[in-house]
Amino acid sequence: MTSYTHLRRRLRTSPQMRELSAAVSFSHKDFIQPLFIDETIHEREAMPSLTGVNRDTIDSACRQIEQDLKNGVTKFLLFPVPQNKSDDPSDFSFFVKALRTLRTRFGHSIWMAADVCLCAYTLHGHCGIMHANGGHVLNAETNERLAAYTLQLSQAGADCIAPSDVMDGRVKAIRLILDENQFHTVSIMSYGAKFQSSFYGPFRQAGRCSLEQHHGQLLDRKTYQISLFNPADAVASAKRDVDEGADLIIVKPASLYQDIIYRLHREIHQPLVAYHVSGEYQGVELLAREGLLARDKGHIEVWTGLFRSGVHAVISYASREAKNWIDKIEY
Ligand code: PBG
Repeated sequence: MTSYTHLRRRLRTSPQMRELSAAVSFSHKDFIQPLFIDETIHEREAMPSLTGVNRDTIDSACRQIEQDLKNGVTKFLLFPVPQNKSDDPSDFSFFVKALRTLRTRFGHSIWMAADVCLCAYTLHGHCGIMHANGGHVLNAETNERLAAYTLQLSQAGADCIAPSDVMDGRVKAIRLILDENQFHTVSIMSYGAKFQSSFYGPFRQAGRCSLEQHHGQLLDRKTYQISLFNPADAVASAKRDVDEGADLIIVKPASLYQDIIYRLHREIHQPLVAYHVSGEYQGVELLAREGLLARDKGHIEVWTGLFRSGVHAVISYASREAKNWIDKIEY
């Protein structure tokens, strides 16, 4: 009697077979590195809440970027940590100066996306201008301010505007002001599917924009960020942002929301970007610090999952390690 072996394991027998059967691949070119530029410091400072990440002065950011370029990083997502906070922020000059300095220094060897949100500037830490009764964030007034901010950042040389506030209609407001001012090639990377997550904790500590310390009436962002219990809202919000002119759509957090990535991958026709946020990143870092997993393998496994789910690009605090780690992947 003839018989044959039906072994799934034949595909796994050697590195060569595993390489041949690999269907997911990605490159360091798919990665965006966040940078925090801080007006309140004179020298770079490490962030205890985010292992390996610093807050930079404009000068130290320049040195960091020089080094990053050598490691194949050319795409940056910039966050401001301004000195002055107010209830009605309108002075964005520090971040504008930072962008202008980087553009002058590095020309177009770097791609700069600028975070656009008011939370680093407001005393209460919310992502917009608060109603006088302290009970809710004003949508239209916030959008107007975000548009004015956008114009200044574009004049300073931003390649891309990344609104992270989650107001309704902000992408449209931003696209309109860009077009009115002939910034047709400045792109918008919108946080179309940004969930109200506990995993932003280390970032908010790093960016000095926690809500809890302000004793306001609104102690969370549930009235504007998307509910984790409502996936359809995320899909609809992302589609709405595309309709309003968003070029790239961010899903945030990333590894916990791969169902959303997969749905958007099938349903929208703009590139998707996963933001592996501070809490997700730090989880891997803490496991690595305890010797419970290898840092490089941990991050590579998360990234592989994101690309498998359908993203085109990843924002990771470890992007500057991507080239080195990806070159060394062992199948
Ligand atoms: C604020 C903003 C947040 C992050 C990016 N922009 C925090 C928040 O919305 O609460 C989170 C990033 C991270 O956790 O890595 N507009």
